[in-house]
Amino acid sequence: MAARRRIVVGITGASGVIRGIRTAEALLKRGFEVHAIVTDAAWAVIRHEVGKDFAFPKKLALYGEDDSASPLNSSSFLVDAMVVAPCSMKSLAGIAAGYAQNLLIRAADGMLRFGKMLIVMPRETPLSLSALENMAALRRGGAVIMPPCAAYYHAPKSVDDMTDFFVGKILDALGVEHRLYKRWGGHAG
Ligand SMILES: Cc1cc2nc3c(=O)[nH]c(=O)nc-3n(C[C@H](O)[C@H](O)[C@H](O)COP(=O)(O)O)c2cc1C
Repeated sequence: MAARRRIVVGITGASGVIRGIRTAEALLKRGFEVHAIVTDAAWAVIRHEVGKDFAFPKKLALYGEDDSASPLNSSSFLVDAMVVAPCSMKSLAGIAAGYAQNLLIRAADGMLRFGKMLIVMPRETPLSLSALENMAALRRGGAVIMPPCAAYYHAPKSVDDMTDFFVGKILDALGVEHRLYKRWGGHAG
């Protein structure tokens, strides 16, 4: 039997923390071992955008940005892929520069060092030149850059539908089957 895939979900203090939360939940639901790193700023945004009483599912391994006891501090703890959603411009810059100032950036740096899948969902608009250059640097380093650009072809009816679309795109990049959004099947006529 194949080993259970281990995936890290990093959540930073950008708007749209629900995208990281739902990604972690979707992966747990599909049997993955999920480790989440939530920065201090992300907790503030979670309280604001999701609610003061929000709690992650108990079967997820949860770490703060300064958790020096986390196994994710070492690349000897093997993980298959990492998603940073949403990714603030600060964390984007940190990852692009290899400035491993906290656990999330260090874990992301480990993915790049080993050539493993790193999916980054940056959130800011409009974008500064430095943000664009940081994204280009990460892409050159092998990361998948996935800005949360809304689509309309799947006929979203709600914010939840929009969120499912972004989570579905992340699962697509990870090669995980799902039915979170309706795929384009061509025109009827
Ligand atoms: C409600 C709220 C929304 C924010 N949204 C964004 C955002 O979309 N993009 C961004 O780069 N920073 C955003 N910020 C600012 C970041 O939280 C701040 O730069 C923080 O230092 C990022 O730290 P982190 O990357 O370690 O989580 C937001 C802050 C708040 C309070």
